[in-house]
Amino acid sequence: MILKNARWLTAEGYFEEGHIEIENGRIVRLGRSSNPPKSDFTLDVRGCVILPGAIDPHVHFREPGQMYKEGIRNASRAALKGGVTTVIDMPNNRPPTTNHSRVMEKRKRFAAKSLVNWGIMLHAVKGRFVETDNLVKSVKIYMAKSSSLPAITSKSALLQLFEYYPVVSIHAEDETFFLHEQKKKLAHHEWRPREAITGALQKIEQALKNLEDQKRPRVVICHMNTRDEVQWLGRMKAEGFDVWGETCPHYLFFTQDDYLKYGTTLQVNPPIRTEDDRQALLQGLSEGVIDFIGTDHAPHTLAEKQSANPPSGIASIEWLMPQLLYLIDEGVIKWRQLNHLIAQGSAHCYAIQGRDGIKEGNWADLVMVKRFDRNQQEAQVISKTGNNLYKDFDFRWKVEMTMVNGIVKYRKGKFVNDTKGMAI
Ligand code: DOR
Ligand code: ZN
Repeated sequence: MILKNARWLTAEGYFEEGHIEIENGRIVRLGRSSNPPKSDFTLDVRGCVILPGAIDPHVHFREPGQMYKEGIRNASRAALKGGVTTVIDMPNNRPPTTNHSRVMEKRKRFAAKSLVNWGIMLHAVKGRFVETDNLVKSVKIYMAKSSSLPAITSKSALLQLFEYYPVVSIHAEDETFFLHEQKKKLAHHEWRPREAITGALQKIEQALKNLEDQKRPRVVICHMNTRDEVQWLGRMKAEGFDVWGETCPHYLFFTQDDYLKYGTTLQVNPPIRTEDDRQALLQGLSEGVIDFIGTDHAPHTLAEKQSANPPSGIASIEWLMPQLLYLIDEGVIKWRQLNHLIAQGSAHCYAIQGRDGIKEGNWADLVMVKRFDRNQQEAQVISKTGNNLYKDFDFRWKVEMTMVNGIVKYRKGKFVNDTKGMAI
């Protein structure tokens, strides 16, 4: 296949024009001339900008266990709409993904249903160690309870997990700091205070520093939401630790003041905080301290979100590219950072081969986006949440087409091919 009249964002972060030749799912040639060779199938993509398919390293597709909230098939459609071609699914399922047989069951479900490429994580359990081989991309440590299992908050338990697993991704919010008894009186971000974050970082740092260099794992701080985390990550990187950071769109678009307007639909863990935190995150992105963006796509039904005891979580994978391109238009992030934030950062962190940008030899995971001079938000919501938290934003970019492993899966609002994605 050939994409002609193409304009694409290179892995180095600038634009090139010409044609893209795709064979057996991979980009075999980036031709810089306007005269493409003959091919059985040529697609004219004039007027579009071609971006690398986004890797979303943080999703909750809710399967097995909570299909009524989402499920792999539906969520992977939402992913395609958002320009996401690869996901890593979280292990806080019902039941949680804690052992070999649950890992295998989840892999089977993804292989059978996911339209995008996929990887999964193992749910860490205190004092229990599972041989993961190459079956999971990382091990998730919840320092605040997120499934039927207790949270892991002790330094000694962290230390043991750090010694055993080579890559750990951490929900770095230490629940021993939560003000449970005042929950009824306080706002969500108040009973889950900032100290839970800084306390968690301290424990993580101490556990890392108690280990010899070679025994330390790679540590990913998931969903960074505070200035404290940006400063900590910058300092730890400067000290030479193998630490990586992820943030999510909702921390870049909203502040805690927005709870007044959006109510519990904006309730998420860790909570959205102040304008100062938001600014620090944006600066962390532009200075390269934060390595990548994950959506933390965490669907719940609207009825659940609006109930007296609402669950936390925001589902927004289907707007990922429009969100990020909006931030580019606003001058908040630069084109040259985009490749890093949506593909290269998580590809390198989680050892995802051949998907770190638009390069010869890489898989043809490509997203064609188009800019319009008016809002391009559609009423239709793919996620079972049925809710679009971003409907008030004036998104000018739209995903026209999403290609996974060289196959067009989504085109002009339609899901056009049912081939499944690959395990990464
Ligand atoms: O808001 C959240 N929702 N934070 C989490 O850590 C888990 C997630 C979920 O699974 O709903
Ligand atoms: Zn999450």
